[in-house]
Amino acid sequence: MLDFSYYNPTRIHFGKSKLSKLDQEIPANAKVLLLYGGGSVIANGTLAEVRHALGERYISEFGGIEPNPSYERLSQAVAQVKEEGISYLLAVGGGSVIDGAKYIAAAACMEADGWTILETGGRCISRTLPVGVVLTLAATGSEMNNSAVVTRVSTHDKMPFASRHCFPAFAILDPTRTMTLPVRQVSNGVVDAFTHVVEQYLTYPVNGKVQDRFAEGLLMTLIEEGPLALSDPENYDIRANLMWVASLALNGLIGAGVPQDWSTHMIGHELTALHGLDHAQTLAVVLPSMLSVRRKEKSQKLLQYAERVWGIRDGSDDERIEAAIACTRDFFERMGVPTQLRSYGVNGNDLPKLIQQLERHGMRALGERRDVTLAISAEVLEKSL
Ligand code: NZQ
Ligand code: ZN
Repeated sequence: MLDFSYYNPTRIHFGKSKLSKLDQEIPANAKVLLLYGGGSVIANGTLAEVRHALGERYISEFGGIEPNPSYERLSQAVAQVKEEGISYLLAVGGGSVIDGAKYIAAAACMEADGWTILETGGRCISRTLPVGVVLTLAATGSEMNNSAVVTRVSTHDKMPFASRHCFPAFAILDPTRTMTLPVRQVSNGVVDAFTHVVEQYLTYPVNGKVQDRFAEGLLMTLIEEGPLALSDPENYDIRANLMWVASLALNGLIGAGVPQDWSTHMIGHELTALHGLDHAQTLAVVLPSMLSVRRKEKSQKLLQYAERVWGIRDGSDDERIEAAIACTRDFFERMGVPTQLRSYGVNGNDLPKLIQQLERHGMRALGERRDVTLAISAEVLEKSL
């Protein structure tokens, strides 16, 4: 096992009717800014309930945070925070609103322009406003981790950052809040959480037995519950399992002490920045091809994955690896997320620009061994067509 330091200060309140915890978590004299997206939380009543739970506190609002939150829109919130002397941010939404809140919380405490956060990957952050979360979409794990992704629309830059100052103070995980999600977002959430686990599990063995078995448990739960969430959308227990899996998939626990990949995510960000695919759609496209292209370097873990997650025991090593990759692709397709670029209108002519973007963003040596060169990324994208 590799050496590690592990820290996660986010308090979780899980279950129905946990909105009442807001009163306990947020100081009575706080000046709260409610952050939300395009209006789903207004339509389903969540925002009104949050306001009610906050009682007499000073409340201001900032809506319109887009999926793949933009620097341009978030900068307006930063100005509002400074103008009103806001002291607490409450994100009500999915990964985009939470990521936006993390960015605003850090940018509002800086003299320099907030884009510096993305340019330094978060290293410039020394202080943030506190952020609380009411989660409405199980997918990213942002509710319980210290990272975020922000897009500068004018330049097509979708960049991640992380800082130990960016963990939410608390997150309310009420699975009933996810009942109003469109099918596409339920599917996206399952694919995203699945890929988060794979990025931290399917690398090379370091005898991290606990991490491996946790990871396999999360993957098997997603394989079991994901399709059920589509066929039985009103079922509370299915939603609850998916919500907790998504948080555990990216709260640092399964990644501590093991190598991590993230090449699929980095290539995926460029597909979103240039072609507007949903985050999870990019992963469904890139992951199967990435595993296929890198099957040699990942062979030991691929064989373990084949056997323990998919129950594949027959055939040669190559055949079992091939079957495990096919199962992965088939799972994404069964979740309703197409796994080839042509389904999203992206073709071979678009690849050079994607590779240029990777180069511009310094993504020349990706993966757990930093051996995914631009040429290999090009091969992966070629295979994804
Ligand atoms: O904007 P509204 O109207 O709220 O609608 C949203 C949005 O259109 C809708 N939605 C959310 N909850 C709903 C709902 N609709 C009905 N009922 C509800 N209960 O869902 C749509 C997508 O929301 P979004 O927040 O964009 O989705 P997701 O949670 O998948 O977040 C994606 C973003 O997170 C980043 C991605 O890159 C992307 O920008 N990620 C963040 C990570 C992190 N911080 O650790 C890791 C991930 O790998 C990922 O990169
Ligand atoms: Zn992701």
